[in-house]
Amino acid sequence: MASAVSNLRGVNAGNARFNQEALSWDSRPFVREASQAAEKAIAEKLESLNWRPGHVLEIGCGTGIMSFLVAPHVDRVVAVDAAEGMIDVLKQKLQKDGAPKNILPVAVLLEDPEDHALPPADTAKPDGSRQKFDLITSHLVLHHIPDLEGVLKTMLGCLAPGGRVMLTDFEDYGPEAKRFHAESKLEGVERHGINAKQMSELMRKVGFVNVNVAPEWTMPKMVEKFAGEFGPEGKPQDDSQGEKMDIPFVICYGERSA
Ligand SMILES: C[S@@+](CC[C@H](N)C(=O)[O-])C[C@H]1O[C@@H](n2cnc3c(N)ncnc32)[C@H](O)[C@@H]1O
Repeated sequence: MASAVSNLRGVNAGNARFNQEALSWDSRPFVREASQAAEKAIAEKLESLNWRPGHVLEIGCGTGIMSFLVAPHVDRVVAVDAAEGMIDVLKQKLQKDGAPKNILPVAVLLEDPEDHALPPADTAKPDGSRQKFDLITSHLVLHHIPDLEGVLKTMLGCLAPGGRVMLTDFEDYGPEAKRFHAESKLEGVERHGINAKQMSELMRKVGFVNVNVAPEWTMPKMVEKFAGEFGPEGKPQDDSQGEKMDIPFVICYGERSA
């Protein structure tokens, strides 16, 4: 599938860290395992709702690890990321034999549901209003977003009537949540996880209905024993470094009124 015309407004400005990390992103076991766990939790949620979404928007798709897992179960995934480097890696992965054919990669800092980087609702009217989605996913992204209320409004505007969001991220489970990131990986981190109560209130304020933000799974992560232990690499340099911490993850669920 051909890529959408990229709207690179803000892309190069805000995402130096993710552009830099894009080439090695898929080599991190925790990154891959966290996406697998998120997709499993979302699949279980879909099953409990007895609902199959057709058109999915993934915001902050990175190199598309979760998009690849979701794509076989839906009609199409529009996979957007503000970091052009991440989208370039996703495009390369999509060229390979066996890659799904129903992922559309788009490099955009998505702040407007009518952004013309998104596909048109009607292909006969390329300049017309933009496509609306049945499901929006976003994994390990919310803790990077300065204006959570703004991105939630954007998501609501991207949903079709009756559409749903299932947003996964680590939980703000108290002061220890700060240790999720190594000291050298704090650039672009806006908050240390998602506070379930505050997030529920914000989602309702923005206009989502049937909101439910709750921890769904935990997974172990190697974290620093003290700030800066992993050095500039941000990962253990030998077996003596770091310790395992169980990290709780939430799904932020909400619906757009039908
Ligand atoms: C920690 S990475 C997670 C990538 C991927 N979801 C994964 O788990 O492998 C966060 C990503 O969100 C992207 N991002 C943050 N805000 C965004 C926005 N408003 N629109 C598009 N991408 C965004 C960043 O560029 C970055 O690649």
